[in-house]
Amino acid sequence: MRKPMIAGNWKMYKTAAEAKKFIAELLPLIKSEEVEVAVFPPAIDIPAVADGLAGNGQVAYGAQNVHWAVEGAYTGELSVAMLKEAGCRYAICGHSERRQYFGDTDETVAHRASAAIAGGIIPVICVGESLAQREAGRALEILAVQLKNSVSGISAAEAANIVIAYEPVWAIGTGKTATAADAQDVIGFLRGELAKIFSEDIAEQIRILYGGSVKPGNIAELMAEPDIDGALVGGASLEAASFAAIINYSSK
Ligand code: PGA
Repeated sequence: MRKPMIAGNWKMYKTAAEAKKFIAELLPLIKSEEVEVAVFPPAIDIPAVADGLAGNGQVAYGAQNVHWAVEGAYTGELSVAMLKEAGCRYAICGHSERRQYFGDTDETVAHRASAAIAGGIIPVICVGESLAQREAGRALEILAVQLKNSVSGISAAEAANIVIAYEPVWAIGTGKTATAADAQDVIGFLRGELAKIFSEDIAEQIRILYGGSVKPGNIAELMAEPDIDGALVGGASLEAASFAAIINYSSK
């Protein structure tokens, strides 16, 4: 059984003081116990988040990016060991904003993801097509390549634990969500691709999240789809009330 996961990607929002306040507001609002919650604050907020969570067993946290080298002259980067020591369970690898603005490619994403695994951090590997690619009818073909290349450093034995996030670039921060049926079609397709890359058994264990304008109003229909195991939420994860409403989708 794949445990549902609701993850909040804060991007470059919230100072450490704001992060701490958010966590204090969020915890009492969480009603659903079947869901694993994860927050991805800016890295400098991680100690404040850890402090606020004080060992809470349901809410994990992670980093928005991670470097593949053990250490070295990489100004501005963070290593797996740094994240591990700060208590991170996860690291996002290859978010479309990293791919679009900071030069991440399938190759660097694959390096980040396999380094994370080697150091005991679970990668949340993002893939997604652009609007032009979708309109040209090439979404699935593009996604298959992105997925295959982004997981290329991961062995079948390591793969069951990874998390994939399908985030169509045209749906991120735009208010345009893929319909639940469209998201299911793509995510079902991605699970099929994972079965080809690893095995059917492993593919059945990998959690695949949907991301792109997820809100309290559309989460329940997304989660009702058989292959959608959770959500990676940007904008709606920044307010405790709306993030909690997404986490509590099943207790309505
Ligand atoms: P959004 O962002 O929910 O604001 O569309 C999602 C993401 O970028 O992970």
